[in-house]
Amino acid sequence: AIQRYRDPGAGDKMNPFAEQEAWEEHQIGKATLKFGSKDKKQAADDYQYVFEDGIDFIKESVMDGIQDEDAMPPESPGASSAKSMLQDERKTLPIYPYREELLQAINDHQVIVIVGETGSGKTTQIPQYLHEAGYTKRGKVGCTQPRRVAAMSVSARVAQEMGVKLGHEVGYSIRFEDCTSEKTVLKYMTDGMLLREFLGEPDLASYSVVMVDEAHERTLSTDILFGLVKDIARFRKDLKLLISSATLDAEKFSDYFDSAPIFKIPGRRYPVDIHFTTAPEADYIDAAIVTVLQIHVIQPPGDILVFLTGQEEIETVDEILKHRTRGLGTKIAELIICPIYANLPTELQAKIFEPTPEGARKVVLATNIAETSLTIDGIKYVVDPGFCKIKSYNPRTGMESLLVNPISKASAMQRAGRSGRTGPGKCFRLYTAYNYHHDLEDNTVPEIQRTNLANVVLTLKSLGIHDLVNFDFMDPPPSEALLKALEQLFALSALNSRGELTKVGRRMAEFPLDPMLSKMIVASEKYKCSEEVISIAAMLSVGNSIFYRPKDKQVHADNARKNFHSGFVGDHIALLNVYNCWKETDFSTQWCYENYIQVRSMKRARDIRDQLEGLLERVEIEPTSNPGDLDAIKKAITSGFFHHSAKLQKSGAYRTVKNPQTVHIHPSSGLAEYHPRWVIYHELVLTTKEYMRQVIELKPDWLVEIAPHYYQLKDVEDSGTKKLPRGEGRAEMTQ
Ligand code: CDP
Ligand code: MG
Repeated sequence: AIQRYRDPGAGDKMNPFAEQEAWEEHQIGKATLKFGSKDKKQAADDYQYVFEDGIDFIKESVMDGIQDEDAMPPESPGASSAKSMLQDERKTLPIYPYREELLQAINDHQVIVIVGETGSGKTTQIPQYLHEAGYTKRGKVGCTQPRRVAAMSVSARVAQEMGVKLGHEVGYSIRFEDCTSEKTVLKYMTDGMLLREFLGEPDLASYSVVMVDEAHERTLSTDILFGLVKDIARFRKDLKLLISSATLDAEKFSDYFDSAPIFKIPGRRYPVDIHFTTAPEADYIDAAIVTVLQIHVIQPPGDILVFLTGQEEIETVDEILKHRTRGLGTKIAELIICPIYANLPTELQAKIFEPTPEGARKVVLATNIAETSLTIDGIKYVVDPGFCKIKSYNPRTGMESLLVNPISKASAMQRAGRSGRTGPGKCFRLYTAYNYHHDLEDNTVPEIQRTNLANVVLTLKSLGIHDLVNFDFMDPPPSEALLKALEQLFALSALNSRGELTKVGRRMAEFPLDPMLSKMIVASEKYKCSEEVISIAAMLSVGNSIFYRPKDKQVHADNARKNFHSGFVGDHIALLNVYNCWKETDFSTQWCYENYIQVRSMKRARDIRDQLEGLLERVEIEPTSNPGDLDAIKKAITSGFFHHSAKLQKSGAYRTVKNPQTVHIHPSSGLAEYHPRWVIYHELVLTTKEYMRQVIELKPDWLVEIAPHYYQLKDVEDSGTKKLPRGEGRAEMTQ
């Protein structure tokens, strides 16, 4: 079960700090109010106007500023041109005074660990310094980021600073989107993309420097990159390796890279007051909203950063904040709401970096991306509900889930630090000091220890790394998870019984997709429907944003959607129908509007599809089309997703066939009311129940036909002909 909401029973009475100190500045509704620059009475009125019940906070401690007076920025000189202003701004960053020293150190050592507070200029400046010092004459400078948005936004910033067009000298590369050219010398990319580059260039010959940035995030791809770059650095003595991190556990990186020297960029941070709630909050979303309004009405100017767990939450908070402030007119100052999350369209991403107009206040609603990867200037207040989405994996069942979990203490400190970059800040934690001290782990477990490894194992195998157990992992994955990955790849026929890559596996590795999706595509050759299957794969890769369902037009939207589902064809086929209909209208935007389809998502699907088409050619799979034969398409899907089979129970719920677990068809599915006896699902999502999202009907004998080494006849017996004895049915219901 998810611990989504904190246990209100948590013993706050035991909190040693609880009664020590009242929140000195104001205790809403209780003690006196102190209101920055505002008139007291006015603010109290505003307060009444905006909400009735406030949240009580208590200040527990102050996170010390770590500023070094000598390193403080000189006054910004008057702007002459945008570019020279940016050049001057570069000189105010904490890293700037260390430019020469850093370049010297890079010159003297092959591998360096660089540590510096978020916002000190590591990501944007170091690659530029290297370029200015001539490193790009010998090869590209590559800089990896765990997140796509960071790669895009940072490269845009650097291109701007260098006065070049993005995609020319400075570019980025993320999955399905390559914004680089022949000219590109500074290449920002996701860690996963660099990992894929090893497939084509195992010694990274075109690079002179590789900077593994945000190393502290310890994403799966970053961890694998560590092992690979460490290995090539041994025989490519001309390659420089920079490992950069925002946190101080740099010793571990240094140890791993054979005692590489650590270069510390002295930080600059102002003191941050840390406030905790006096009692646990039952609903952190609501608490976050109230806290934002509370800050807005009462606290002196300065922007607010709120950490939420994902797009849905961000949209909810965005909507409620708009609703609550709407119609207040001049009662309160303007509140500019800026969301930022991975799938936010590029044109809207820039908004968070725009300066806040005089008299207004900006509130940035962000996912974990704002914890260390992105620096937003002007933030003075941080609201930290204490949660983030964390992937977890059960190697026994092979089930992966993305759950809302409490953050670690290290994360909480990073979040708080975001408020003290340009002046003293305040962090409002929506949990108690007791929770913080007793319930939060010190650090987040590295992703490699809590994820499905099938994808990585396939990549490593195709790089010729066979001995995975002895791979130089910084922290090894659980051996159970490695074994499960090997098993899964074997079941998908990507590996043979000796664990060697097969022809199928080699083809699968060419696709930057999950092995199940890659297998589905490779299998489409056999069923002569590769055209249809890559459309489906592209639509699935876009995620859950194809159908548009505005609150005031839900009925219309649902009706429009039903058109694509007619005949209970299943969700994959419905997605294919959407794509094909759109294509028939010559990719019309108008058509999308009329059918409640998000045109932006469709364009992305088209892009992805184009790339998959190119990859098909590369692995020599003929484009074939078989639109009339839905069974052929479903069999191709089953070839990739046979692990995801489920069978209807008497109770109306489903039971997964292997590793039995009770699941349900997601209400948004076209099959939600049809209840086929056997289904294949694309993914499981846990909300109020464990739901299967994107479902097709399955003929059970396909399982034995397609995956005979995984399913035996007994697994699929009772395929409808045999009637269950009464007792058995009842027993199933009570289970
Ligand atoms: O990597 P690190 O956290 O050390 O800092 P950085 O990302 O290089 O940021 C240095 C400066 O560039 C900060 O003051 C940011 O505000 C600014 N920046 C920006 O204005 N726009 C971006 N897209 C990225 C960074
Ligand atoms: Mg950075």
